[in-house]
Amino acid sequence: MIVVLTGAPGAGKGTQASKLSERCGHRKVSTGDALRRQVKLGTPIGQKAGALMAKGELVPDDVLFEVLREELGPGKKGEVILLDGYPRKISQAETLETLRESHPVGGAIQLEVPREELIARLSGRRVCEDCGATYHLVNSPPKNGTHCDACNSEKLIQRSDDNPESVAYRLDVYEQNTRPILDFYKKSGCYTEVDGSKGTEEVFQQLEAEIKRIQKA
Ligand code: AP5
Repeated sequence: MIVVLTGAPGAGKGTQASKLSERCGHRKVSTGDALRRQVKLGTPIGQKAGALMAKGELVPDDVLFEVLREELGPGKKGEVILLDGYPRKISQAETLETLRESHPVGGAIQLEVPREELIARLSGRRVCEDCGATYHLVNSPPKNGTHCDACNSEKLIQRSDDNPESVAYRLDVYEQNTRPILDFYKKSGCYTEVDGSKGTEEVFQQLEAEIKRIQKA
């Protein structure tokens, strides 16, 4: 079963999907992470996606579907997949429905965060270039200040799309293209909202409870 984690850039989808995966054993699938891996490897998909991602543009649906199918795999009974970053448009929500036999969507959870907070989170985000761990200069710096807690790399970098112009553009793209999918999930009766502006631990607890409820439904 898929649980869609949705929300604007910087809402905390990746942070929470990683925590839920570590602590609850759910599987995290992030289309953003998958695309960044393809860019790093210089694959044909990465070559198509890299420049679009740096500007904050959406990558074409056909490319995303290829990435999604590869990441989801065949699907296992009883497994919960936390889907971070897909769907981002109504057309993608409809495409995901075509996979419902192997990957039914059990719930869609929106992390709601005010725009000023999103900008503060994205401008302070740093990621480990080697293992992908995410930090924030103020909210969650690495323990020793300079090296990644997970792999000890010193390559803690700013993502190419976390510059002020790309952030503003991504937030606009989100409002125009992605927010409409909330109505799609409200109509299908599987939508819930969590206040993503709270601290990381509090948001985690709300999400954990919500996912348990979805599993029992
Ligand atoms: P993607 O990687 O999905 O980026 P995004 O949606 O813009 O989301 P972010 O990763 O920026 O934010 P997040 O919500 O995961 O926040 P995080 O947890 O890191 O996509 C990148 C690009 O790929 C897209 O722009 C597009 O080009 C392409 N793409 C991907 N999917 C696509 C699709 N389906 N269709 C088309 N194109 C696609 O947290 C942010 C910061 O805040 C961190 O520093 C973190 O430490 C901090 N933080 C998190 N939670 C809290 C909290 N509760 N309190 C305080 N600080 C917090």
